[in-house]
Amino acid sequence: MNNLEQTLSIIKPDAVERNLENEIKEMFKGQGFLILKEKKIQIEKSEAEKFYKVHETKPFYNDLCDYLSSGPIVVMVLEKENAVLGNRELMGATNPKDAQEGTIRKKYGISIDKNSVHGSDSVENAKIEIDFFFKD
Ligand code: CMP
Repeated sequence: MNNLEQTLSIIKPDAVERNLENEIKEMFKGQGFLILKEKKIQIEKSEAEKFYKVHETKPFYNDLCDYLSSGPIVVMVLEKENAVLGNRELMGATNPKDAQEGTIRKKYGISIDKNSVHGSDSVENAKIEIDFFFKD
């Protein structure tokens, strides 16, 4: 059965700052993802707080929101069969130290905060996150 899905991907400030945008996009395309929509933006801290609201009780929430709003990011809608899981696999573990060879975070991540990419963690959150950035 075909299970075409869309997921939201963000290339985070640490990766945009190091000009890794194209290399990371090539990794997605190499794994068969279509980039349906994309835009480079810088968001306000208040928007980052909304985006990461699920983490609001976590000790790292404030730093996380400061960080995501600290510089330009690239937000993309990726499409592929089972895109949500496939993107999580391609990104690798949240902490680059734990990420496997061949993953984006292993290759480019600097730390658990500066881990280069964000990806939706479920189909349900993918819809919410895509709407967050691309609702017309
Ligand atoms: P991301 O996939 O964007 O989702 C939330 C982010 O919080 C995560 O990537 C990490 O960059 C960041 N973060 C910082 N500290 C932690 C932590 N202890 N556990 C999980 N995520 C963390």
